[in-house]
Amino acid sequence: MLDDLGHRLSAAGLAVEEDRACAEERRVEGLIRCVDPDGHRLEFFYGPHVPKRPFVSPRGVRFVTGDLGLGHVFFFVTDLGAAKEFYLGTLGFRLSDTIEFHGRKVHFLHVNPRHHSLAFVQNEELAPALGHFMLEVDDIDDVGRTLDEVDSRGVTLTETLGRHTNDRAISFFMKNPSGSEVEYGYDGRLVDDTTWRVANYDATSLWGHHRDRPESAGVH
Ligand SMILES: [Fe+2]
Repeated sequence: MLDDLGHRLSAAGLAVEEDRACAEERRVEGLIRCVDPDGHRLEFFYGPHVPKRPFVSPRGVRFVTGDLGLGHVFFFVTDLGAAKEFYLGTLGFRLSDTIEFHGRKVHFLHVNPRHHSLAFVQNEELAPALGHFMLEVDDIDDVGRTLDEVDSRGVTLTETLGRHTNDRAISFFMKNPSGSEVEYGYDGRLVDDTTWRVANYDATSLWGHHRDRPESAGVH
């Protein structure tokens, strides 16, 4: 499968590299990497190390991962058409829906039942860059407790608690030390491809998700 993907990426004109050192560092059997049309580094692997003792959060938080993957990432692209062709065409992501606001259309893509593992929007001023990555927990109270931690540790909250229109996740956003953001949420929607219908929303949130800093406006 990894070989097939490597051939598909090469046939699409991308430079694909097998990286043994990176595979060892990630503790996976095999890994290839390339960059997307905007230069975002992508890694593909098989055979992850499975420890006898599973990860246990020191705060008792349970993350929603497994077959759904880590969560999702949101980034900025310079050419929406090229990004769609690459992720939907070459890589085989499926479109979940779009959100159109402030003259831009954010695209949300899935590869498993999680509503989206990837979202991107064209923004020539900010691209290429990671906007945020999202982690999902299985208890709304852990979202609240983490909000308390954010407050007590002086972490910058970039969006207040709210619920998204499309994936229906209740979440908040905070600044991480790298300058991008972390979305922390609960209750993300699942997609059933046999019945799913793509929609175009005109707002990101049903309620909340207020940005408290003017310079951050337009990131989502
Ligand atoms: Fe998100």
